[in-house]
Amino acid sequence: MKEIFQFFQPTTIIFGPGAVSEVTKLAAGLGKKALVITSNFWLKERKVLQKLSKNLVKNKVRHLYYPAVSPEPKARSVNSAVSLAQSEHVDLVIAIGGGSVLDVGKSIAILLKNFGRAERYLELDGSYKIRNKGVPFIAIPTTTGTGSEVTKNAVLFNNKTKMKRSIRSEFMFPTYAVIDPKLTVSLPQDLTALTGIDAFTHLIEGYLSKKSNILTDVFSVYGINLIKHSLPKACKDKAKDIDVRSKLSLASLLGGFALSNSSMGICHGLAGTLGSIKSIPHSAAVAILLPHVLVFMHGKLDKIKILSKILMKKSGTKSELRNWFRTFYKKIGLNHKLVDFDIKPEDLKNIAQSALKTNSIKGSPVSVKKIDLINILKKALAE
Ligand SMILES: [Fe+2]
Repeated sequence: MKEIFQFFQPTTIIFGPGAVSEVTKLAAGLGKKALVITSNFWLKERKVLQKLSKNLVKNKVRHLYYPAVSPEPKARSVNSAVSLAQSEHVDLVIAIGGGSVLDVGKSIAILLKNFGRAERYLELDGSYKIRNKGVPFIAIPTTTGTGSEVTKNAVLFNNKTKMKRSIRSEFMFPTYAVIDPKLTVSLPQDLTALTGIDAFTHLIEGYLSKKSNILTDVFSVYGINLIKHSLPKACKDKAKDIDVRSKLSLASLLGGFALSNSSMGICHGLAGTLGSIKSIPHSAAVAILLPHVLVFMHGKLDKIKILSKILMKKSGTKSELRNWFRTFYKKIGLNHKLVDFDIKPEDLKNIAQSALKTNSIKGSPVSVKKIDLINILKKALAE
């Protein structure tokens, strides 16, 4: 082994069924007043939050709830939450929910110690740099896709530029990631499949990335296998099986390591652009694009052969790889099509042009031109 590599993961991870009961102890050691960010779903699903509230009170942590309503969080709503947190003298943020809820929590925690509106800190749109550590932040994921509980960025929609951008800093890593697979058993089949494929894509793009290293490869390959075997079970008769759900939570966490320590590629570059220009939900976009991106890279990168062996037990041809995904998506009940999202052939040039500027595509392990992106999109659109 000759390479020098770095792996950075400052978030303390607490993982396992029932882990959410650890939150109040952790919170008591971090602050006196918490802002708890959550989604409407968890506000209705009262049992978990009632228990959390009761234990926070018992541990002398005052707290208030803030609902993160949009699945595509807006910088503007983060600013309102920060104002509320300041007026309430909040010194700790807890987020319980999917990736966007965690991203909102992460942004509030950092902006409480960095002056100015969220838009100012968005990559490409703003010019401010994060200079200070935020207030302590506890991330509690309830889906198994984004890996946001262990990443250093938060994706927000900028109303001014109409683009989805990230606030990114080494200071953005959550203080604690409390990962309780029990919280994911109520995730419906479609969301289990979609978020699972998002995690799958983090692991696959992270594995193929130019920035991957031996350690990220170990995590990524392990995670790819977990999803390959467990996602079909979770989408069928084992939805409530804690062992299956634990494997998906672990895969999502490992996907977060790939996001933070390796990098993404063509699929995430295009998906981010489709999300901004055409409002396609992130996980649907990556699910549609992933097979086409891998077919494009087939024959251009040695690691694709290894990936194919992991998936299909042989290196296989382009069409065998495409068919493997068709069968896999059938097993998990995923049938999203690009054509369903109001994309017309005349939109493709603009989408490809915009995607070329993304960091994900700039870091692609295979050289890619605008025409290649247009062809990938055309193939996706033809299905
Ligand atoms: Fe993703």
